[in-house]
Amino acid sequence: MPESAKLNCGDVELDLPVIEGTENEKALDVSQLRRETGLITLDEGYVNTGSTRSAITFLNGEQGILRYRGYAIEDLAQNCDFVEVCYLLIYGDLPNGEQLAEFRSAIHSHTMLHEDMRMFYDGFPRDAHPMAILSSVVSAMSTFYQDALDPANPEHVEICIHRLIAKLPTIAAYSYKKSIGQPFIYPENDLTYCENFLRMMFAVPCEPYEIDPDFVTALNMLLIVHADHEQNCSTSTVRMVGSSNANLFASIAAGVCALWGPLHGGANEAVVNMLTQIMEDDGDVEKYVAMAKDKEHGFRLMGFGHRVYKNFDPRARIIKAACDRLLDKMNIDDPLFHIAQQLEEVALRDEYFVSRKLYPNVDFYSGVIYRAIGIPVPMFTVLFAMGRLPGWIAHWKEMHASKNKRICRPRQVYTGENIREFVELSDR
Ligand code: SDX
Repeated sequence: MPESAKLNCGDVELDLPVIEGTENEKALDVSQLRRETGLITLDEGYVNTGSTRSAITFLNGEQGILRYRGYAIEDLAQNCDFVEVCYLLIYGDLPNGEQLAEFRSAIHSHTMLHEDMRMFYDGFPRDAHPMAILSSVVSAMSTFYQDALDPANPEHVEICIHRLIAKLPTIAAYSYKKSIGQPFIYPENDLTYCENFLRMMFAVPCEPYEIDPDFVTALNMLLIVHADHEQNCSTSTVRMVGSSNANLFASIAAGVCALWGPLHGGANEAVVNMLTQIMEDDGDVEKYVAMAKDKEHGFRLMGFGHRVYKNFDPRARIIKAACDRLLDKMNIDDPLFHIAQQLEEVALRDEYFVSRKLYPNVDFYSGVIYRAIGIPVPMFTVLFAMGRLPGWIAHWKEMHASKNKRICRPRQVYTGENIREFVELSDR
């Protein structure tokens, strides 16, 4: 007999089925609740609410576990390249040699932007935030590639996937070149994904550019650890928008906008701004920890805390170790890294953080690596988006393939005015 939960409300008694996932997570299936009882559930911020079944990523927040399609994030970060992880997330298995070569080749044939798309950059102000540029240009892709937008057409979806994965680095690098008034650097398809991005970012036409293998290794790891994270805010946004059968470009552009928020992907930029502020304030870490505990202050320790992880974010561990290695290898003594480590040390022995299980998250150390590579702060969240793209795509595809697919449309509890007699303007 499958497990169930009894709900007694007034004279209604209802058995709610309990469903169980492959990692023994359990959920109450309330899909018949309103029909049987007239009741809905209310869960601000969806803290207790599952939106879907998914086979893509597994998180265990208490144990600090993260797996993509069953593979531990530590193994993937250590052994894969980012394009391989894109394939894993989107198609469900690690590719063999032939599948990976075919996927890489498909991506290589789409790395350039349509020349008319470059004119968008002429219109943006030089100080335009690159996340605004990214969401705008990704959305505009649906105007340039009108030949393949149908979510129900597998061939259309496939070429949209290749175009997005191939073009995001180009779109991102062009936004950086625009901001510094340098000429755009075209992609070079004999380079790897990360090599190509670094060259488009930092090369100039008048001299050779030497790609640093340590930067490539660090960037590859960062993209992999950002690649998916189950039903986070931006992924849920991509699913929500995609559920209306909007095209993939529109859905991804919406995800970029959601990621931009400082409580989500924008936190990596906010962390470095916070660490810089502390450094300029005589490195007074204790002062900022006290501010973060004082509700009146409204200040939060950016890069700390997580809706799911109530233990160390496994990605933060991987990034912090890579940070150590890269700075050591480059012989960089970044004061922000020292301040971040002090902040972590002070916070993790403070009852306020310990009792709320607030640990460093993926955004806490990533900015220090981006700085070492030479990525400017406003571009940090753009790199998060580049990493998260395969996860967004995988969830969009899974949503469309689901036999339960329907448009996402939550209910509400109305708390406004009851009916009122209309009053003519002359009588108000
Ligand atoms: C990402 O969902 C994902 O998976 C996201 C992500 C991904 O890969 O997609 O992991 C990426 O977005 C990581 C999070 C980046 N954001 C930040 O670092 C911003 C700082 N963190 C917080 O704002 C907060 O921790 C959130 C937004 C991450 C989580 O918010 P929740 O789950 O809604 O928790 P909450 O705001 O209800 O906080 C619970 C308590 C509160 O105190 P009390 O009301 O219980 O007294 O903890 C406190 C909060 O005030 N708190 C913090 C804090 N984070 C939570 N206090 C100080 N500093 C913080 N950073």
